[in-house]
Amino acid sequence: MRRDNVILVGFMGAGKSVCGRLLARRLGRCFVETDDMIVAAEGRSIPEIFREAGEDRFRRLEGDVIESLRLKSGDVIATGGGMPCRDGRMELLRELGAVVWLDGDAGELLERARRTGNRPMLEGRSLAEVEELYRSRLPYYRRAHITIDTTGIGADQVVARILAALREAHAVRA
Ligand code: S3P
Repeated sequence: MRRDNVILVGFMGAGKSVCGRLLARRLGRCFVETDDMIVAAEGRSIPEIFREAGEDRFRRLEGDVIESLRLKSGDVIATGGGMPCRDGRMELLRELGAVVWLDGDAGELLERARRTGNRPMLEGRSLAEVEELYRSRLPYYRRAHITIDTTGIGADQVVARILAALREAHAVRA
């Protein structure tokens, strides 16, 4: 049975955390971040995991987190930008609830992502390389149930659009 979580996916800087928190408040639901679950389980930060254990290890931890998400229902879940981007992951996420992709202009996403820092996937990568990473992830993100274009709008408006789309899809009540 499909659970009634709302799962936000999208590239770094898309606003998954900020919008997810707001959305959860609007819906009166709990808010969960997969990156926080990994940090709590590992007892070290995301940059430390990348530095000390490598990206592959981090991706395996993301796989473990998806398994534990199966226990959740009714939550708003913000995922890390790379979490859905492995074969089979989007299918697993779609089983957990309504998957919402926060898309936007690649340059805008990147600028926001760089501003908030602490993102190992951006370190040592040129703008062209990050854009290539974004493009390589599109086939995965496109499998979301709902797509929201965040270009040029603030978090409040993004949340209003998510709510409207969820209602239209009968994924939430009221
Ligand atoms: C990553 C995105 C990050 C975090 C990790 C890897 C990625 O999350 O999971 O640094 O591969 O895009 P945000 O999307 O919240 O920045």
